[in-house]
Amino acid sequence: MVQPHEENAPTRGLESVVAADTSISYVDGIHGRLLYQGYDIHDLAENTSFTETIFLLWRGRLPTQAERDTFRSEIVGEMRLPSQVVEMLKLTPPNSHPMAVLRTAISLLANFDPDAEELSTEANWRKAKRLVAQVPTIIVDLHRIRSGQPLLSPDPNFGVAANLLYMLRGTPPSDLEQKVMEVLMVLHADHELNASTFTARVIASTLADMHSALAGALGALKGPLHGGANQRVMEMILDIPDVETVQAYIAGMLENKQRIMGFGHRVYRTEDPRTRHLRKYSELLCASRNEKHLYEISRRIEQAVMEAKGMYPNVDFYSATVQHALGIPPEYFTAVFAASRTAGWIAHIMEQYADNRLIRPTSRYIGEMSREFPPLEELRA
Ligand code: COA
Repeated sequence: MVQPHEENAPTRGLESVVAADTSISYVDGIHGRLLYQGYDIHDLAENTSFTETIFLLWRGRLPTQAERDTFRSEIVGEMRLPSQVVEMLKLTPPNSHPMAVLRTAISLLANFDPDAEELSTEANWRKAKRLVAQVPTIIVDLHRIRSGQPLLSPDPNFGVAANLLYMLRGTPPSDLEQKVMEVLMVLHADHELNASTFTARVIASTLADMHSALAGALGALKGPLHGGANQRVMEMILDIPDVETVQAYIAGMLENKQRIMGFGHRVYRTEDPRTRHLRKYSELLCASRNEKHLYEISRRIEQAVMEAKGMYPNVDFYSATVQHALGIPPEYFTAVFAASRTAGWIAHIMEQYADNRLIRPTSRYIGEMSREFPPLEELRA
């Protein structure tokens, strides 16, 4: 191996590398702050719906009430899927992962979108509305097909978040459930240059279409170090029989050098501001379903990981019990995250298109140099 030149040393995992300008969201990892278009995430979580957050991320300002109502019905009006996509959902083997199906479905959708290859700003915004509406429908339709239930149309009285829950379960969500679903989707909607958003921007920077950028982002989100963590958090919590067992369970995982899913973060050095809301709703919802022990186990895990590693929970930790308590099956947790993050991905794709330069970094070569090519007779002997 040639000795690498140190001045070309890559920044492992691109940590702290500034790779884009953005005005969509801001993460202050030291002080635990998250802003969307300048607004604090706490204000947004308490006061806005997912629809309003999409509007904010895409247009840079909060909508008036009239704008919100129009925008909401436009999006809900786009929630239907082409029949071919529904047929594809039926064809997938029952044990294929919902994120794999969602990734495939987005690719397939491109083939039926009249604007798929049209990259004008107007066509891109039309696709944006369709995609943010169709992703939730893919998730709920897949679940209902796999559980042998009839597919439902969206209820025009609900926004996209409440419709996701309604169409998944078949019963209208309570006021509390609606509020929690809105908050869950507001909190997951954007997070600066995370791995999937970066992926989306890289793909958009080649001037590939929006569906391609979204399919790539879904692939990145699927990984357990990113959005795939929430499902694994739930599996861990369900694997722990009671609060008393938590300490030994976590110690055992750490001894075996296993990562505790839902903990640690590349940017936050303090508590992730989204945790506060998810922790609160986890407690409320678990109690309302007689599953307080799941919240208590979560709290104990939080304490054990803090004591052992000084690590804080990230967005995926309490989103697991929140989604569980909303009646969402664990294998769909990452897909629900994706339904929300689609809003952010699209905002970043549009920002990338608006001031584009191909994203093409370079690598440090650490392979061999000047190898002597063998005589052909020797190679083919
Ligand atoms: N559990 C146990 N140890 C962890 C850990 C976790 N969740 N997260 C990080 N660490 C440890 C690593 O083992 C490493 O220890 P070492 O230096 O002794 O080898 C150290 O902390 C640094 O980890 P590193 O992978 O370099 O940090 P990162 O910034 O690249 O990773 C994450 C960030 C999010 C990928 C990482 O914290 C993680 O894997 N978390 C679990 C998955 C998760 O919840 N993902 C969702 C993120 S929102």
